[in-house]
Amino acid sequence: MSFRCLDVARYVVAAAVTVLIMAVIVNAVKVVLRPESLQLSVVGGSIVSGGRFVTEPPPPQPPEVGLAFNMDLRALNPSGRARMYYVNITAYLFDKNTSASASSTPEDDSIFYIKPHDIAVLQQETVDSLVTAKVTKEQVTPPPYYDMLYNGSSISDVTLRLDGELVTEVNSRLNETRPMTSYYCEQLLVGGDSDDLKGRQDVICRQQGRS
Ligand SMILES: *[C@@H]1O[C@H](CO)[C@@H](O)[C@H](O)[C@H]1NC(C)=O
Ligand SMILES: *[C@@H]1O[C@H](CO)[C@@H](O)[C@H](O)[C@H]1NC(C)=O
Ligand SMILES: *[C@@H]1O[C@H](CO)[C@@H](O)[C@H](O)[C@H]1NC(C)=O
Ligand SMILES: *[C@@H]1O[C@H](CO)[C@@H](O)[C@H](O)[C@H]1NC(C)=O
Repeated sequence: MSFRCLDVARYVVAAAVTVLIMAVIVNAVKVVLRPESLQLSVVGGSIVSGGRFVTEPPPPQPPEVGLAFNMDLRALNPSGRARMYYVNITAYLFDKNTSASASSTPEDDSIFYIKPHDIAVLQQETVDSLVTAKVTKEQVTPPPYYDMLYNGSSISDVTLRLDGELVTEVNSRLNETRPMTSYYCEQLLVGGDSDDLKGRQDVICRQQGRS
């Protein structure tokens, strides 16, 4: 009787160990296969107003008046092996009434858009890029948004959509390119003064490949 109990106990332990080993193997495979990708975030969750600007081109052109903005875009490369580049980027700002991901004509549907510089991130590094923009009244749609921003108000719940090419340098001779890689950074605040920006969290951008 007691021998039988011991046998059963042995089987139970053996089964438990088998399950444990399988779980470890499955997890190890997951780690190896996990596609490591560039992570982007907007520091402080905001696109900060840089105030008004005036440029004076040579006459007879009239002086150009507009608004400046800047944003701190943080890029983290989690890979221990590959350099990553995010290039040919266009950044579109969408208000909360417009679907950033559904828009197939983002130039028209966005509040405004800009072309940030390319980003290059070494293995396991973080790079902060200061993205600056200068927009004129004609570039902002619908027009009430320009007036709001011009007069110091902010727009909340803005989604930033970044479209670009994600390049992973597998080794010094081989680049792997994902031509249409989008990031969505949600619930940003655009404009406003330093009081509006206090205590705002970084916004981590969601990645979506469309290759
Ligand atoms: C950059 O992206 C635009 C679309 O956003 C595309 O039309 C253009 O061909 C791209 N340029 C290069 C050099 O890949
Ligand atoms: C956004 O939609 C809300 C209703 O859902 C409406 O009241 C508001 O005027 C819209 N804003 C713009 C800028 O279209
Ligand atoms: C805001 O600024 C615009 C300039 O774009 C001006 O025409 C408008 O009168 C201002 N509106 C308010 C409510 O102050
Ligand atoms: C990979 O692409 C990046 C960005 O376009 C470029 O700077 C780099 O030289 C390329 N590397 C190779 C091996 O082609």
